[in-house]
Amino acid sequence: MELYPVAAVENIPEGTSKIVEVKGRSIGVYNVGGTYYAIQNYCPHQGAELCAGPVCGTTLESQVYEFTYGRDREIVRCPWHGWEFDLKTGKSLFSDRVRVRSYAVEVSNGQVRIALGT
Ligand code: FES
Repeated sequence: MELYPVAAVENIPEGTSKIVEVKGRSIGVYNVGGTYYAIQNYCPHQGAELCAGPVCGTTLESQVYEFTYGRDREIVRCPWHGWEFDLKTGKSLFSDRVRVRSYAVEVSNGQVRIALGT
């Protein structure tokens, strides 16, 4: 596993993101509540640039006729057809079988680094 520096921490403040290229891969790096996450910038539905979509929350499990909003700024919504993915895991919100690749992120010496395998 090799680490690739992608940004200084001050360039991705809390609540923001940045799209970077690492070894030919387009990756979205997100600062969610002070923790960094990275996911593939490619929607598995029809190939949209997923990380160009809005960051939002979602409705939580609740009783019938109750709508409770939560997980604010932890979800990215695809700009083409609205599929939603958890920024922390890459998993879609609607199926355990659909996900985007997520990458480990390490922060040290003021640098955000993404871990890529071979
Ligand atoms: S391409 Fe992303 S939801 Fe269709």
